[in-house]
Amino acid sequence: MHKPPFRIRLVTPIIHAAERRAIARVLDSGHLVAGAQAASFEQALAQLSGRRFAVALSSGTAALLAGMRAMNIGPGSTVVVPAFAFPAAAMVADFLGATVRFCDVDAHTWNMTPQTLRPLLAAEDVDLVVPVDLFGHPAPAGALASLCQKWGARLLVDAACSLGATRDQRPAGSFGDGAIFSFHPRKVVTAFEGGAFVTDCETLAATVRTFRNLGQSPEGFVTVGLNLRPSEIGFACALAQLPHLVERLRVRCQWAREYRRALQSLPLTFQADEPGVVANGQSLVVCVPESFGASGRDALITHLATDGVEACIAGWSASRVPPLRTRWRVDEPHLPNALALHQRGLALPLHENLSRVDVQTVIHSVREGCQKIELQR
Ligand SMILES: Cc1ncc(COP(=O)(O)O)c(C=O)c1O
Repeated sequence: MHKPPFRIRLVTPIIHAAERRAIARVLDSGHLVAGAQAASFEQALAQLSGRRFAVALSSGTAALLAGMRAMNIGPGSTVVVPAFAFPAAAMVADFLGATVRFCDVDAHTWNMTPQTLRPLLAAEDVDLVVPVDLFGHPAPAGALASLCQKWGARLLVDAACSLGATRDQRPAGSFGDGAIFSFHPRKVVTAFEGGAFVTDCETLAATVRTFRNLGQSPEGFVTVGLNLRPSEIGFACALAQLPHLVERLRVRCQWAREYRRALQSLPLTFQADEPGVVANGQSLVVCVPESFGASGRDALITHLATDGVEACIAGWSASRVPPLRTRWRVDEPHLPNALALHQRGLALPLHENLSRVDVQTVIHSVREGCQKIELQR
């Protein structure tokens, strides 16, 4: 299919001269895998996420895999994930042979909450709960951790999107038994492909470290593992980006506020602000009204595209991801908020390379698109 050229991209990875120099130094060093760059990044990330340990891996999915495996998730385990999220945690739990259960997200914050989780914990023995910090807005992981503790479940936070965000003055990734990050090019810091597992538990960190290296520890092969090692080139890039993280997030959040201010008179819903939450501006998602429906949302994406603005659907409800829906007989009527986001959510361009004119162009196009769709109804 021919794709229109976008003048304003949804997201663009920004690789400055400092990152390029850091990458060149790695190439000259001849040490390309799991070396000093990944180790330095691990140290910095442990500090940034308020954890004792960080282990760099080849992707966020690899971090979920190694983390869940270190928590003994496998056949006979039950894992709860939010019904609306990028389905990586659900896929990994399924891949490991666990039973996967989906809980709805909150209608306003769009995250898993104690209220949406509690019925699942009450219904059956749950081994692991994996909340997702949706669009860089940290889930209430402190409250979820207390609830999990009461029901004997562990908590692994999918903080893939929330690096640099905080909740109750604690950094994203600092809650629960462990957390994972992704450094995919769509994220606020990129290692091209990369991820990390963070924890305060020395045993979990060591188990993940061994698993990522085909089960090798300094003593030799001690268990079965995979090659999930981090690339030095990728983590040299990510490491060079870290000093600029605060400024990058400031710019993203400024544009996010600008969108909200300008679009608040339209019948669009934004992810609710919560007291104590400082999101990182990973993604800017709006939900069109019920009267627009999925076809109205898709028409708005098409309208933006004709103006050269790239937008896309906000994400997936598990009930609409065929391999998950059929395997776990996902009960759609019990997941209304996930379905609404799936059908009516769209992501608008949000990154540090946007100019004020770009943001105004997007705002103008959204306004015009909404008017057009309203007139056609
Ligand atoms: C919420 C969430 N979890 C997990 C992942 C998987 O990360 P990766 O693409 O680095 O494997 C992503 C990637 O976009 C994500 O958004």
